[in-house]
Amino acid sequence: MLKNIKIRNFRNLINYETDFKPGITTLYGRNGSGKSSLIEAIYFLSIGSSFRARHDRDTVNKNIYGSGDFAHIKGIISNKNDFTELQLMLNLNDSMRLTKNSNINGAKIKLSKFVGALKSVCFSVNDIDVIFGSPSDRRKYIDLLNMQLTSNYASELLEYKNIVESRNALLKNINKNYSNKEELEYWNTKMIDVGSYIIQQRYKSIQKLAEISELIFSKIFNAEHNGKIEYIQSIDTHNDHHLSDDFEEIRSHFSNKIIESETKDISYGRSTIGPHRDDLLIKIDGDNAYNFASRGQARLLILGMKLAECELIKQNNVEPIILLDDAFSELDFQNQEYLAKFIADYKQCLITGLDFRVIKNLNMPTNELLLGDDS
Ligand SMILES: Nc1ncnc2c1ncn2[C@@H]1O[C@H](COP(=O)(O)OP(=O)(O)O)[C@@H](O)[C@H]1O
Ligand SMILES: [Mg+2]
Repeated sequence: MLKNIKIRNFRNLINYETDFKPGITTLYGRNGSGKSSLIEAIYFLSIGSSFRARHDRDTVNKNIYGSGDFAHIKGIISNKNDFTELQLMLNLNDSMRLTKNSNINGAKIKLSKFVGALKSVCFSVNDIDVIFGSPSDRRKYIDLLNMQLTSNYASELLEYKNIVESRNALLKNINKNYSNKEELEYWNTKMIDVGSYIIQQRYKSIQKLAEISELIFSKIFNAEHNGKIEYIQSIDTHNDHHLSDDFEEIRSHFSNKIIESETKDISYGRSTIGPHRDDLLIKIDGDNAYNFASRGQARLLILGMKLAECELIKQNNVEPIILLDDAFSELDFQNQEYLAKFIADYKQCLITGLDFRVIKNLNMPTNELLLGDDS
């Protein structure tokens, strides 16, 4: 549970501190008072980046640009009688480059080890990109899920990305005859080792997520439509791989595919297969939602996926904090009620919005938090 947060120079929150109670907290305040920014800051502490900024540097308060001052988010989380202090510093240098420094209980820790310490799931209007956006938007969704589930996922993913970058640089050099082909072997092995781990984790998590979300979809679509999600592995483009969570099987298939694609990789100057090209297929009534879902259906699909994510993290022993930024606004009344009842089963949930009637109808105690000056 999140007990307290202190924020400095993040968006319009110059010097903000508040305690949080368990249960549902509704955030009030006028447009522009900083409700979404508060949600964003909390989620930033959980995933190490912003869910809505194009660049993380945009979250640093504009008035401190060039001043040498920095932005800062500090949260205290409690788990039974244990307290943990999480801290993130965002430093913008004179050429507007952002560095993020993180520490836990005062000890510096790499950001890739820091993410996931605070478990949370955020649902906002931007999530529609998971349905209508590019494969990279869907990979981001898969990766955020896995970062909350497995503590070393983020650092393995970072390593994988670095390997792909190095391999790509080498491929370009081979293409120009600056390097020779034998040098690829070293990077192939690294890419296969770390990449197979990524594929394995994604496969396991998506399989569970698919099961849970199918049940939730049947409720939110009132059995009139059906939703389904499937993991699309880049190493299985020809459907010739028996998908499995067995590391050795994945590894051997990945090795074969890398050898097959080597000539193509050299001529393109980049790695054409691997988990950096994976995707998630989200279906509505058997068709790809990307092409066929209405905006309202897309909202429900992603809602179902996020709620399934909550359940999956909970099954993994820690209840996530649920963050809902304007989540109720585009839902019909039945689904507003469904969502309200769903979150009532969780220890902590923060909600922004304009209309909290369905929350009030739950007849349970809620906390209110006012942002900005409402006078
Ligand atoms: N980097 C920034 N520096 C200063 N102010 C910002 C920055 N980014 C956004 N803002 C401002 O912060 C305010 C709060 O925005 P937001 O949290 O989205 O409000 P709400 O969700 O309450 O409507 C807005 O007035 C916005 O223009
Ligand atoms: Mg807002």
